Order: sequence, then structure tokens, then C-alpha cells
Amino acid sequence: MAKVNVSQLKDISETLLIPLYSRALLTKGKRPPISDSDTDTVTIVDEIDYDFTRFKTSKGTLAGIACRTCILDNIVKEWLVNRPGDIVIKIGVGIDTRALRFPQSQWYNIDLPEAIQVREKLLTTNETNIAQSAFDFSRMDKIPEKENILIFSEAAMIFFSSGDINTLLLCALDSIFRNSLFVFKTVLRLAVKNIKINGNPLKCSDEDLNDIVRPNLQFQVIGGYMFINYFKKSEIYFSDCLLN
Ligand SMILES: C[S@@+](CC[C@H](N)C(=O)[O-])C[C@H]1O[C@@H](n2cnc3c(N)ncnc32)[C@H](O)[C@@H]1O
Repeated sequence: MAKVNVSQLKDISETLLIPLYSRALLTKGKRPPISDSDTDTVTIVDEIDYDFTRFKTSKGTLAGIACRTCILDNIVKEWLVNRPGDIVIKIGVGIDTRALRFPQSQWYNIDLPEAIQVREKLLTTNETNIAQSAFDFSRMDKIPEKENILIFSEAAMIFFSSGDINTLLLCALDSIFRNSLFVFKTVLRLAVKNIKINGNPLKCSDEDLNDIVRPNLQFQVIGGYMFINYFKKSEIYFSDCLLN
């Protein structure tokens, strides 16, 4: 079967291939640290026409991705215990496979048009894709309910400044949704200073968003320091992220 062409991914949208590939590596490792082993991701990576070896995936990157996957899976699980069938919105969805792991909720995905195009070639899950920037709210009417929503952004808004996120994203979400939880993945300040992903500098650290209060949106940051503590307390060890 012909492999799927993803050449429309460029620059910031191309970064979605990094966590996708990393989750496939983690699942193929000896002791996969991701609780619900993500075999769909392995299949998807095999279907793509792309040289993934160009990503020099470090142990640290794999460890961080393992952590955030587990932490966010637990948040989704807990959220859905009392609200099966409720809406979850994923901002900067990439090729995240949670809609397959948690089919009991209604998934609404927001990402750039080229990223959604690629997602739709690779995944035929029961979900609604909204192909637009997270900073463009013109099609929010696609989301039928506005109350008790879980919204999360996993390594997508890290490319934007905390000022843009606060004024453009959080302020708008706060005015649209009520009694909702927004979970936001950030990075260590050290990473903001030193790391570029596919040429894109990281801009938003843990500390930048920690103190934000919004009346309608409960706000939870998950990021660098939390991951280190999670590693210490949990069954995940860095050695689990080594392959073979
Ligand atoms: C590093 S990838 C993370 C993908 C996915 N969240 C995951 O963890 O596998 C960053 C994602 O953010 C998306 N993104 C970047 N800028 C965006 C924007 N303005 N609006 C929505 N999504 C955006 C990219 O297209 C890409 O899918």
C-alpha cells in the first residue's frame, strides 16, 4: 500500500511528527511507560512516508513525552468518570490518538489546516476537526455545548508568548465556556531559553502562566517541574525510555 504523503507539514505544523514518533518508540520499547500502550501510533508511523530518523530523539524528550502522556491520560480518565459522553476539546491536536483510547467522549480537535488535513488522512475516528488557528474563534459554533468542557493543549501553545496566550486564547475561551477546565502543557524556563523545535523557539514556560485566574475557566498547568516529580513518584524511570 502506498505510504501517506505528509509534505504539506512545514515548520510549526511539522513538529507534530516528533511526539507522534516518540510515542511509537515508547510503545515499541521493552517496558512501555505509557499506561494504555499506544499501538495505534506505531501503525500510523509505519504508514507515513517520512524519514523520522532525522529527529534526534533524546532520552529526555522521550521521558517528557511519556510523562505528559500519562499525566494527561489520567486527567482525561478522571474527568470522564463523572461525565462520559461529554465534550473534550484538544487545541493543537497533531496526531494524538486519545480519541481512540477514550471513545466514550465527544472529541473536538483544533489545529492548523495542514495538520488537520494530515490527521484526516491517517485517522478515521469519530471526532470533529476544526481546521483553524487556536487564535481564530470564528468556528466555535461547531462546538454544540459551552459548559463543563475539558479543553487541553499539549505542547502546542509552547510556541507562543504567555502574553498572546493570556490575552488571545484564555480571555476568549473564558468568555465562551463556563465551568470548564483548561489544561495546559508548558516547558521549563531553561528550555525556553535554550531549545528550538524545528527552528521554532519555545516561548511559554511553567512560571509564565502559573498565576492566571479566570472566572469561568479552571486552569491547570502541567509542565517541567511536575514531570520531574512525577518521575520520582511513579513507576516511570528514565531507563524505561531506552529502547531495546
Ligand atoms: C509539537 S506538536 C504537538 C502535537 C500534539 N499535541 C501532540 O502532543 O502529539 C504542536 C502542534 O501545535 C499545532 N499548532 C501550532 N500553532 C497552532 C495554532 N496557532 N493553532 C492551533 N494549533 C497550532 C501544530 O500544528 C502541531 O500540531
